[in-house]
Amino acid sequence: MAYEFKEDDVICSCTQLTKQQFLAAIKDQQITSLDQAREKTGVNVACGLCIYIVEKLLADSLSLQ
Ligand code: FES
Repeated sequence: MAYEFKEDDVICSCTQLTKQQFLAAIKDQQITSLDQAREKTGVNVACGLCIYIVEKLLADSLSLQ
């Protein structure tokens, strides 16, 4: 079973952005793509290791809109 990220879990170690902060940014800044997420939040632009959780949270968030 996959690990379920909690609201205050850091999803990108390089930026120290939490799941809650990232989801709020998607909503507040109307982010609709990975490129926009990178540009507006700084996630996934350094080491790149957070790609899977960033893509999943973005996809899940967009499917709810
Ligand atoms: S963990 Fe997100 S860019 Fe390094």
